Amino acid sequence: MAFLGIGRQKKTVGLDIGSGLIKLAVIDHGSGRPTLTKVAITNVLADAIVEGEIMDPGVVAEAVKGLLVSAGVKQKRAVVAVGGRDVIVKKIQVDRMNQADAYDVVRWEAQQYVPFDIEGVELDFQVLDPDGTGLQMDVLLVAAKRELIETKLNLLAEAGLDSPIVDVDAFALHNAFELNYPSEQEGVTALINIGHEVTNVNVVQDGVPLLTRDLSIGTRKFREDLQRERGLPAEEAAHMLQGYERTPELESCVQSRGDEIAVGVERAAAFLQTSSRDAKIRRVFCSGGGARVPGLGDAMAERLRIPVEIANPVQALDVHDGAFEGLNVDEVAPLLMQVVGLALRRERE
Ligand SMILES: Nc1ncnc2c1ncn2[C@@H]1O[C@H](COP(=O)(O)OP(=O)(O)OP(=O)(O)O)[C@@H](O)[C@H]1O
Ligand SMILES: [Mg+2]
Repeated sequence: MAFLGIGRQKKTVGLDIGSGLIKLAVIDHGSGRPTLTKVAITNVLADAIVEGEIMDPGVVAEAVKGLLVSAGVKQKRAVVAVGGRDVIVKKIQVDRMNQADAYDVVRWEAQQYVPFDIEGVELDFQVLDPDGTGLQMDVLLVAAKRELIETKLNLLAEAGLDSPIVDVDAFALHNAFELNYPSEQEGVTALINIGHEVTNVNVVQDGVPLLTRDLSIGTRKFREDLQRERGLPAEEAAHMLQGYERTPELESCVQSRGDEIAVGVERAAAFLQTSSRDAKIRRVFCSGGGARVPGLGDAMAERLRIPVEIANPVQALDVHDGAFEGLNVDEVAPLLMQVVGLALRRERE
């Protein structure tokens, strides 16, 4: 699902503008099988983006420009994501009708689910059971504040990109998950992206993204915990969070933040169970820089009593030689789940 159509290029450039890092991925769709041809990552100046909101568009645009140059990307079109509280994703039911007639009905229905002025909203939807015969059909509704999209588009224009495609962050994660874990598509799964400032909790049922919630937890909070409670200097704390060792200093913050994220997952699960009884979450896949915090997955698994794994966006995706040049694949892979999902978008048939 995309808010705008997609161009003719065989390659798709995905751009994930996070509050800690900007990630870029290029996927070639030319040969039938998608192939990852390039990955690049750059830092964002502290506080240029806070909780998803772009505070300093000039700084961020420069960083994006630099990243495109360093990755050798000439293409002017990219796929970016929006998310957070100004984006609503909801499965609704409407009377069965053809797609063309459905727009007005879905728009009308959307008013009761969208907590902001419908006039200022960009809407998209997808019929989930187009071949169904029941009187009603399931529709996945997506509504995003137009202002949010416009801010993103302005920023990208400043970085020299034109007519980008705007996707929803939860969908991008889901796309990457679908391609890399084809045998995990049945039942209910939680896809959790633990970033620098925000953790997105997404619940997917039988291949349909059902629900998305954001928690204000990320590696930044972990780092601050270590600084405040353990007296570690910022750099040492950051280094420990990106390591592989479960050190004694990490224990208490991993436990308490792990519980916090797990509670977010439990709430989502409880919410789902009110609408569908077989909605028990079977497994959790974590991505984002926070997924790498040593011991965090285990702490969550202990509380949730279900398996928690680190998601790998190149588990089943073909990768071109040299795509990861200069980067350590194992270290950065979990951070690339969303951007790979964005670059997996291809031309609408
Ligand atoms: N190899 C790595 N290189 C850089 N940072 C890493 C690495 N591994 C883990 N990290 C941690 O991951 C964080 C960035 O994670 P991620 O890219 O998922 O966040 P983000 O998308 O920028 O943030 P948000 O989604 O909250 O806006 C860094 O702040 C750092 O703490
Ligand atoms: Mg992120």
